[in-house]
Amino acid sequence: DAAAARPALLLAWYDRHRRRLPWRPPPGEAADPYRVWLSEIMLQQTGVKTVGPYFEKFVARWPDVEAMARASLDDVLRMWAGLGYYSRARNLHACAVAVRRDHRGVFPDSEEGLRALPGIGPYTAAAIAAIAFGRRTMPVDGNIERVVSRLFAVEEPLPQAKPLIQQLATTLLGASRAGDSAQALMDLGSSICTPKKPACALCPLNDECAARGRGDQEIFPRKAPK
Ligand code: ADE
Repeated sequence: DAAAARPALLLAWYDRHRRRLPWRPPPGEAADPYRVWLSEIMLQQTGVKTVGPYFEKFVARWPDVEAMARASLDDVLRMWAGLGYYSRARNLHACAVAVRRDHRGVFPDSEEGLRALPGIGPYTAAAIAAIAFGRRTMPVDGNIERVVSRLFAVEEPLPQAKPLIQQLATTLLGASRAGDSAQALMDLGSSICTPKKPACALCPLNDECAARGRGDQEIFPRKAPK
């Protein structure tokens, strides 16, 4: 049925329209957990455009997690200068040290194992588990909240609706390629399902979208009054 086809529609769209971003491997190649982790930490509070050059600079200097673990915290902080939220840089270095010392330089491949590391909360653990390790889990960020709340016309306001949106977002995962499904929703949210004037004509899920059916896309996600 139509609902069951959504994961495949989303992946087909991603295969044609994915953004080329420095931390994404060429189509068909395996993701590098180190690069996925580094990008996700940088993207926690900073946009894709700003992160790009910092990401390139970091991987040029420290090509793997062991190399970063051997660096001094001061060097990491100097390279981070300009990205803001410096606790991220301290945690980044602490995480690299922990992966080298406690995991022989290999990132844990489960959400639980990842969450035990410095600087990795539930969202980032899910993102790394899905994108780097193909774990069937959906990291829900602000873009994905907007896409999902429109697709299902979620009337419950944020933040209360978070568990419901998480559950609905998980229905968009197919049998495999969880990381691509997540990144497809991120790209859809940033390029098509935008806060104002979404480009619904270009959306692979437009026929499926409850909000579009009613013509009130922009009221979602609903927000609780402050
Ligand atoms: N924001 C957080 N993670 C991202 C990713 N993997 N691709 C694009 N935007 C993101």
